[in-house]
Amino acid sequence: MSAMPCAPAERGILIVGLGLIGGSLAAALKASGYRGRIVACDCDADEVARGIDMGLIDDGGTQLAPWVAESSLIVLAVPVLAMEDVLRTLAPRLDAQVVTDVGSTKSAIEAAVVRVFGHLPPRFVLGHPIAGSEKNGVAAADASLYRQHKVILTPREDTDPDALARVRALWAACGAQLLEMTPERHDQVLARTSHLPHLLAFSLVDTLARQDERLDIFRYAAGGFRDFTRIAGSDPVMWRDIFSANRDAVLGALDEFEAGVARLRRAVTEGDGDAMLAVFDRASHARQYFDTLLNQTSYQAMEQRNIRYRVSPGGAVRGQIRVPGDKSISHRSIMLGALADGVTEVHGFLEGEDSLATLQAFREMGVAIEGPHHGRVTIHGVGLHGLTAPAGPLYVGNSGTAMRLFAGLLAGQAFDTELTGDVSLNKRPMGRIADPLREMGAVIETAEGGRPPLTIRGGQALSGIRYDMPMASAQVKSCLLLAGLYAEGETRVREPAPTRDHTERMLNGFGYPVQRDGDEAWLQGGGRLAASPIDVPSDISSATFFLVAAAITPGSDLLLEHVGINPTRIGVINILQAMGADLTLQEPREVGGEPVADIRIRYAPLKGIDIPTDQVPLAIDEFPALFVAAANAEGVTRLRGAEELRVKESDRIQAMADGLTTLGVDNTVYPDGIDIVGRASADETPAAHYRGGQVDSLGDHRIAMAFAVAALRASDEIVIDDCANVATSFPGFVDLARRVGLVLDEQEVS
Ligand code: S3P
Repeated sequence: MSAMPCAPAERGILIVGLGLIGGSLAAALKASGYRGRIVACDCDADEVARGIDMGLIDDGGTQLAPWVAESSLIVLAVPVLAMEDVLRTLAPRLDAQVVTDVGSTKSAIEAAVVRVFGHLPPRFVLGHPIAGSEKNGVAAADASLYRQHKVILTPREDTDPDALARVRALWAACGAQLLEMTPERHDQVLARTSHLPHLLAFSLVDTLARQDERLDIFRYAAGGFRDFTRIAGSDPVMWRDIFSANRDAVLGALDEFEAGVARLRRAVTEGDGDAMLAVFDRASHARQYFDTLLNQTSYQAMEQRNIRYRVSPGGAVRGQIRVPGDKSISHRSIMLGALADGVTEVHGFLEGEDSLATLQAFREMGVAIEGPHHGRVTIHGVGLHGLTAPAGPLYVGNSGTAMRLFAGLLAGQAFDTELTGDVSLNKRPMGRIADPLREMGAVIETAEGGRPPLTIRGGQALSGIRYDMPMASAQVKSCLLLAGLYAEGETRVREPAPTRDHTERMLNGFGYPVQRDGDEAWLQGGGRLAASPIDVPSDISSATFFLVAAAITPGSDLLLEHVGINPTRIGVINILQAMGADLTLQEPREVGGEPVADIRIRYAPLKGIDIPTDQVPLAIDEFPALFVAAANAEGVTRLRGAEELRVKESDRIQAMADGLTTLGVDNTVYPDGIDIVGRASADETPAAHYRGGQVDSLGDHRIAMAFAVAALRASDEIVIDDCANVATSFPGFVDLARRVGLVLDEQEVS
């Protein structure tokens, strides 16, 4: 809920031009509780009389002069081309008043002010409310016209801060959202988002109207025509003025549009279905993305939401479920599919926010991608050298994997790119990939401390290197192998411990040989990828939350279907089994180069263990849930050699330690690990192992899900804050958790 706007502290407000815009401003100010006088001047005496009758203004007339002295703030709401005459009348009468305007173009109005005054007076704050309607005149005034709408102000460096604050207060009182930019940028932005669409609508209707005399086509025009041309009903005089005043920016926008139409025309002429699909698909998804922004449901919008889980103590864990597709493999399927020659069909794709961001980024680089529809994605590969420069920065959400793998493959492109992510990702270290990429000849700039955003300069000749990784990281290894596709010679990476090998497996599956010998993987640059179908197994990292849920809850019996059990990912299985879990793999099989099985798990008492260090990289994402298993075991569980946990989506050692302490579980934190004192006892009588409480997930999806599972053995409710990011890796977590027997309530808090 937005707070009630508060009325501006002006002595009196003069509105020059009492049409829809000026009248709505007066109405909104009255509604905000403004008690000062509002007067208006308009060349039409009837409009002024109507404004007084409607109670919008206190007084007014057709002459400007009488009203200037009694006002402390003046709003110019006359058509753009009438502005200069009004300014000439105003100039000799101005004293200390603040002046603002509502014109749809800003550079032309600023130029008019400078012609009249010789400079832009510091008490002038030009502005533009992005709101309107096809209706005209004060009779259509609407007190809510500006509520939740944007108002752009275009102050200059020497604008008086007090004047700016007062104009901001004026619009804030109307419920508007304020933005600031230069007049030039305003005109460029509006030329594209408002002026060009109006020009096209006017032109289309006029073109068809001429033909209509011969063909009578309006009688058959349907919804598409109506939707596209609604704005052609707007005020012709106003729009003539806008196009005259914003000529250069509109012509620039029109040039871009004509080039786009020419590209499509060529595709239609040549019957180039792929080119058409690329444009339509990008446009269709861009339109949906725009919708989600408007509806506040996109991931970027969700970042500002606080989703809270309330998980009741106790519950059961029984049934047969399939968790969503593997995140690591989903990212890679889009990347390699896009760089392959031919069409790649993906099944089981994870429709989480992170992998969707990867998919969108490739669309922005000219790749036609259909879907996802229930996990099916069709990628029309463009070949290793077929990507095109995106129009702006590529946004990869919460995903370290996406940013690091993208950096590798973008280092080899002919064009520049910028990679950016959400607040959490923008804190994570990127030097680990930027340094070796630079050794290969890449040119990469990072923000301070080697953090995102990354700016990657295109057109560099890369050469293969032999790299000894200082940490066990599949992301670093994959980044370098992807850069190696574009490098001269051989790119070789040595890992200090085995890490997930999905990149190597998938490259081989796409006919691009990656060799391995011991702890080294390598490839030769300059080959090509051939499209190949991909079946994404369920994500063992998502399955882990339910494995732990069943492992700690007496009476549980759960079957998890089609889970990926790649040997570089099964640390969690090995660790749980070592702790005494009753876990069996059923029907092991291989799909598309990745081993898969159904996993059955039933309750059995757990005991604390020293986690073998060779299992750490194989279970790196599973520790938040494994810490919950440790809290429910008998005896102490010790983890060392896991300093990488400190640079995940949160510092996972500290985040889990804090939450466990809240629940009353003793633990000791070390730089590279933790000791957790398990709360189970040999006789296993108590239902609850610890208390409930309120914990903060710090926006980390895996911390949120781990504490949800912990509630199964708590004595009271566990409340978990900041859970929106669960959607990055596990869409549908809440529904599946409820289905197996957790009692979980999801709420949005302000
Ligand atoms: C991933 C590698 C791991 C893992 C991440 C996914 C990948 O990161 O934590 O969730 O897909 O390559 P590091 O390589 O940084 O260990």
